[in-house]
Amino acid sequence: MDLKQFVSKLDKAGDLVRIKRPVSTKYEMAAIMDLVDKTTQQAVLFERPRGYGSPVIGNLLAHRRRFALALGVAEESLHKAYAQRVKRRIKPKVVARGPIMETIVERNVNILKEVPVLTCREGDASPYFSSAVTIARDPVTGVTGMGIYRIQVRGANEVSINFQNPPLTDFLRKAEEKGRELEVAIVVGMDPLTFLASVFPVPPGTDRFEVAGGLSGKAVELVKCRTSDVLVPAGAEFVLEGRIKPGLRVHEGPFGESWGTYQEGRNPVARVTAIMHRKKPIYQALLSYSGEDATLLAMLLEGTLIDSLRAAHPGVVSIAVDKFNRSNLIVSMRKKDSGEPRKLLKEVLSGVPIVKTAVVVDEDIDPNDAQGVGFAIATRFQPKRGIVVVDEARSSSLDPSARPAKSGRVTSKLGIDATRPLSAPKAKFEMIQVSKKAKAAAKDIERLLKRKA
Ligand SMILES: Cc1cc2nc3c(=O)[nH]c(=O)nc-3n(C[C@H](O)[C@H](O)[C@H](O)COP(=O)(O)O)c2cc1C
Repeated sequence: MDLKQFVSKLDKAGDLVRIKRPVSTKYEMAAIMDLVDKTTQQAVLFERPRGYGSPVIGNLLAHRRRFALALGVAEESLHKAYAQRVKRRIKPKVVARGPIMETIVERNVNILKEVPVLTCREGDASPYFSSAVTIARDPVTGVTGMGIYRIQVRGANEVSINFQNPPLTDFLRKAEEKGRELEVAIVVGMDPLTFLASVFPVPPGTDRFEVAGGLSGKAVELVKCRTSDVLVPAGAEFVLEGRIKPGLRVHEGPFGESWGTYQEGRNPVARVTAIMHRKKPIYQALLSYSGEDATLLAMLLEGTLIDSLRAAHPGVVSIAVDKFNRSNLIVSMRKKDSGEPRKLLKEVLSGVPIVKTAVVVDEDIDPNDAQGVGFAIATRFQPKRGIVVVDEARSSSLDPSARPAKSGRVTSKLGIDATRPLSAPKAKFEMIQVSKKAKAAAKDIERLLKRKA
């Protein structure tokens, strides 16, 4: 299933809003994506981007139900299906040709002429790729590596790429040690499972196309770039082929980042040597600091962290990333003794940079239910015995309150044990409910309410 087929699926499922009027890529699309994200959380298809012939899809994966659709399972089964498939590995297959090669621009490359790159926030320095997957090969081993990196459009054929994390930071270092350029491919518009796999945490040296194959159950088909040996999905929508000059760093930003502040950096520059795209490409836009990057992050944490937590704490039931604060992790568990939640909190806070605060709740609380988590904090948490503070822990690079240190940025972190005491009667801490029977009978009212909205 390629991106276009997935968009048709969303349309059929009623999970897509079509915007038929002309909309500018500068600020206007972001405002509409933000509005839809905060209301129905549907995907948005801009059919007539002003100045461009290709449509733009936004909020593509802003809700878990769309990951379920991509995996072909019901939303209730997402957790189980994802946990199983993310462990599978299927090697990609190299093919001679693919739809991505339908249009090739090698002369007078002009990025903004071909690609409707969005400018989302008023403080952004320029148009930015925020959903692009940058792919390269390890200059020593030849293994393919990739990640999502923000990319600033600096000129007709020049971009700078925010390399903070491996694998591409390592690849560039290795290329620079040899005094060589690093060839990269900037890919926009992959099928949703390859997109998710492109940032799935894996041991160094793993080709994430194998994770993508495992998720979909089919080998990802790859083609070789026109001007380099980098392999890209044959069914992608846009590919920009580029070369990063060794040793050069330039000021990049500001860009409104996924923790909600503007960020700047000194980053490498790539010269774009060719652009390939489908005949009628669709551009995938991603609004940072929105439901989409929060959902992506939650899927990534869910796919990796839960296994390691369960290995040490078998009573862990599920985890969730707080919808309103992406640095807050909620863990629901059946604790075996009164000290276990605090032990788990210390481990998570010291071990996971992007988790700044964490809450442990009992197994009867759904960590995705903000009201339930609030209830647990209000009625089961006693600050004097339930708080954990971890100091000098590794931080996300996006937290401006963190302190720079030799090992990266460090921060103080907070854990909250919101579980009830084991010795107290359970009934005292039970959440009040409406009658289950009456609730089922009230379903028809729910339908009326939806119609009004
Ligand atoms: C939406 C999104 C945007 C990201 N932007 C950047 C970025 O600008 N720079 C960066 O170094 N990593 C960024 N990342 C993280 C990397 O793409 C990738 O997840 C990280 O390198 C993990 O790889 P590792 O497990 O091999 O360390 C982003 C991730 C997501 C999901």
